Amino acid sequence: VTIAEAEAETEADFRASVRDVFAFLKRTSELDQLLARGLPLQDGWLLPAADLHVGDPVLIEALGRWRSAHADTFPTQFKVTSAGTAKWLAEAVVSNPDRLLMLVADRLGRPIGHVGVTLSADARISALLEGDRLLEFGYLLRGETAPAGIMADATRTLISWCHEQFAPFAIYSVTFEHNRGAVGFCEAAGGVVRDMIPLARHAGYHSVEYRRAPPDRIDPPDARHVVMTWPELRPADSADAIPVAGPSIGPREVGYVLDAVRSGWYERRSEYAERFADAFARIAGVRFAIPTSSCTGAMHLALLALGIGAGDEVIVPELSWVATANVVALTGATPVFVDVDPISWCLHPEALREAIGPRTRAVVPVHLYGHPAPMPEIRSIADEHGLQIVEDAAAAAGAELAGRRAGSWGGMAAFSLQGAKLVMAGEGGMLVTDDEALYARAAHLWDQARTGAGAFWCDAVTPKYKLSNIQAALGLAQVERIDWLIAAKSRIHQSYVEQLRGVAGASVHLGDPAATATHWMTSLLVGDAAALSRDDLARELARRGIDTRPVFPPLSTLPMWPPGRAPGENAARIAAQGLNLPSGVTLSGLQLERVAGAIRELLSP
Ligand SMILES: Cc1ncc(COP(=O)(O)O)c(C=O)c1O
Repeated sequence: VTIAEAEAETEADFRASVRDVFAFLKRTSELDQLLARGLPLQDGWLLPAADLHVGDPVLIEALGRWRSAHADTFPTQFKVTSAGTAKWLAEAVVSNPDRLLMLVADRLGRPIGHVGVTLSADARISALLEGDRLLEFGYLLRGETAPAGIMADATRTLISWCHEQFAPFAIYSVTFEHNRGAVGFCEAAGGVVRDMIPLARHAGYHSVEYRRAPPDRIDPPDARHVVMTWPELRPADSADAIPVAGPSIGPREVGYVLDAVRSGWYERRSEYAERFADAFARIAGVRFAIPTSSCTGAMHLALLALGIGAGDEVIVPELSWVATANVVALTGATPVFVDVDPISWCLHPEALREAIGPRTRAVVPVHLYGHPAPMPEIRSIADEHGLQIVEDAAAAAGAELAGRRAGSWGGMAAFSLQGAKLVMAGEGGMLVTDDEALYARAAHLWDQARTGAGAFWCDAVTPKYKLSNIQAALGLAQVERIDWLIAAKSRIHQSYVEQLRGVAGASVHLGDPAATATHWMTSLLVGDAAALSRDDLARELARRGIDTRPVFPPLSTLPMWPPGRAPGENAARIAAQGLNLPSGVTLSGLQLERVAGAIRELLSP
């Protein structure tokens, strides 16, 4: 793939994901769903102009009135009619996949103006700003009754939401220079002037239009356009706390949950759970998925479905959350801890081979922090010794290695939907498999071993690990945004790599270049030569409002496991030196710069 092809692909992906969100926002004819898709303002709302509004005479009259009152701010000027405005709203706005008009509404939801954003199709602006993935901010019209300050709030809210949702290369606006009010207003809202474009006036019989002036008519132009861009507007104030992780909640999440809680009962009682399971199975590259109340529950069910129990040994890596080993013990089997490999920080294939004994029945490789474990090697060792595989893919939805998705390496796999995970549902998990017989066994246990022979007839003792339809609605919205979530994590990871390059004694964990990790967490390894220890660095960052987490302690060192061999050297070193940096999907570029700046400053003696 050439650089030009890669850029064209990124641009195409960007346009597709923006259109997808715009369409979702506009396809609603219910008032509660309209509010769910809205963005709250201090004193009102931004509500998408949607199907619900098409043909509404009160709104159309107001839109026409506002447009007439501000005619001189538009490049095309004509006599405004209500038929024309109705057609514009239906065709140029609501049915136009590239445009989103947000009605600025008061606290009771009554429209008092609007702002909008459009996918740019202007090659000259791309050339001027030297980048694609552009959104044009505009359609700013203030109605007569809009209170002071609301349009500035609307502008800032829409622009920072677009930065968070779409991570565009830039958001720009094009405004007439003579529209002093708008230019001043955009500057006050953080816009930076980038260019002035000379225009020529073309008068027709019914309308007047301003177009870019040809070079020979530049002096003097009939008017000029001011091009402005908005850097990210999210505050990066040094007093603001920066969390280590956290979800992105958008209109899709709110809309689905509202629908599930209002209508997801009776015949629709498992609709979201089924859609969620289907969507998740596709992400994991397998045929079957069972929504569970946690990843812990999903792993426990998987081991039970595989018949693991007392007298068996199950191999787990030293570096993981304790749940990975707990579920083994919950079945009555014994977890056997092995070292990790220094590249992926996941189960070391050779350590696995050495730990296999006569009672070993299964292995639980962990795709730590979304980095795939070295599965081709693990798979072949497991096959050689007849071991079952249960992948702990807690934060690895969408991760890939050797052309296979995390969760599809054979046996069963479990994902976490806990609130900080890549794809989340508050709490929850997903058990997946491509093996129909295993799926049937797990589904039986999941449903408290009901046999179907009588309403309450069951044939085994089981725990209950079901996920509610309401949580599944939240999870479905997240899975439908997974490409965006992974892209946000990758951008964060890449920025840390670039901004922390060359810091003395510390390095960002890169992983295996052949793997596609989700970069759920970006980790820093703070070596012995660094100016501060890992824990002192974390303390200093906390004093600056920056939240971090140490890498997990080696599991075998926790007090509930019988003392055994010392943990492997890789796990011990990574556990002592690894620090997870703020990696939430909503982390802004400015916040990331603050984190990287603080680390550089603290580690440069
Ligand atoms: C590697 C790993 N495995 C399992 C889990 C458990 O997930 P849950 O909280 O959904 O049970 C986690 C949660 O952080 C994890 O990081």
